[in-house]
Amino acid sequence: MESEVPLPQQVEGLRSDFAQALSALKSDPASTIKDVEDLRVRFTGKKSQIQSLMGGLKSLEGKDRAEAGKTLNLLKRDFENELKAVREEVEARQQAAELAGEWVDVTLDIDPRTRGGLHPLSVIQYQIEDVFTSMGFQILDGPHIETEYFNFEALNTPADHPARDLQDTFYFEDGNVLRTHTSSIQIRGMKRLEPPFKIIGPGKVFRCEKVDASHEATFHQLEGMMVDRDIKVAHLSYFLKELLSQVYRREIEIRLRPGFFPFVEPGFELDIACLICEGKGCKVCKSLGWVELLGCGMVHPNVLRHGGIDPDEWSGFAFGMGLDRLVMSRYGIDDIRLIHSADLRFFRQFI
Ligand code: PHE
Repeated sequence: MESEVPLPQQVEGLRSDFAQALSALKSDPASTIKDVEDLRVRFTGKKSQIQSLMGGLKSLEGKDRAEAGKTLNLLKRDFENELKAVREEVEARQQAAELAGEWVDVTLDIDPRTRGGLHPLSVIQYQIEDVFTSMGFQILDGPHIETEYFNFEALNTPADHPARDLQDTFYFEDGNVLRTHTSSIQIRGMKRLEPPFKIIGPGKVFRCEKVDASHEATFHQLEGMMVDRDIKVAHLSYFLKELLSQVYRREIEIRLRPGFFPFVEPGFELDIACLICEGKGCKVCKSLGWVELLGCGMVHPNVLRHGGIDPDEWSGFAFGMGLDRLVMSRYGIDDIRLIHSADLRFFRQFI
């Protein structure tokens, strides 16, 4: 050893320096893992005093050398053990601080004005979906941008049909269209599924309409279809009466009037007895006692064929209802434009 200070004293000095530095680190709540690491480098690293004392061992002889070596190794191990314990302490403290920062009181009452809610359209749509899925229907989806084939041709709507008039349909330059009804989902369903099956397809539809209190260029429909052997109009009226009674939560009277849609034969308009006057006649039903609600009918054989289904073996019914109208009659809303508005005063009523 080159140093004049005897080794035991040097070791003592180091122990007390270390103890002091360690206790300062422990008592400071802001200490970090980096501080612990700095301490480790300072007391046991390559340039530490222990390390240079160990380097000096070479100059000692036999027994002295062994003893000094043992003392220094012990010292280093003590430092390392203590550093390890402190590191764990600091780590635990850091973690506790992080957790405290993320703590959320789930029992805290929130301001009802900031609470979110479902859009009334979603409320109605989910409710109808529940009724149909409980009757064994599957929910299908389809794209908003459709080919003319899925929106028209496959639905027995030839190119010269008035429904294809430019005034009603938004065309893209490539000939595709924004779907004008959810009936395109029927064709997609038939191509995908093997009969018998029951499907519904809710979604947005688009028509080039002049917008006013009862017309929107974007609105919502829900398509339904059932294909099986020997399906009759009686099945159609049973399912729709059942559905509407559940949606309105009371027994609903329905009637079918003849109506033309190229993709059904026979086709019907379905009316429900006016909910306001119960069929007696009032302003809402224009004294008729009935309100028109949806289009429906028996699937046209041509449509079944387009869907890859043999009309001699299978038959089916289909219907398409406007969800916006349903929302309006259910909540007493007199302007369809409110449904797509960003008016929070309107939406807060439904929270
Ligand atoms: N697609 C028709 C419409 O948009 C509704 C309908 C669907 C009619 C299915 C009959 C059968 O008006």
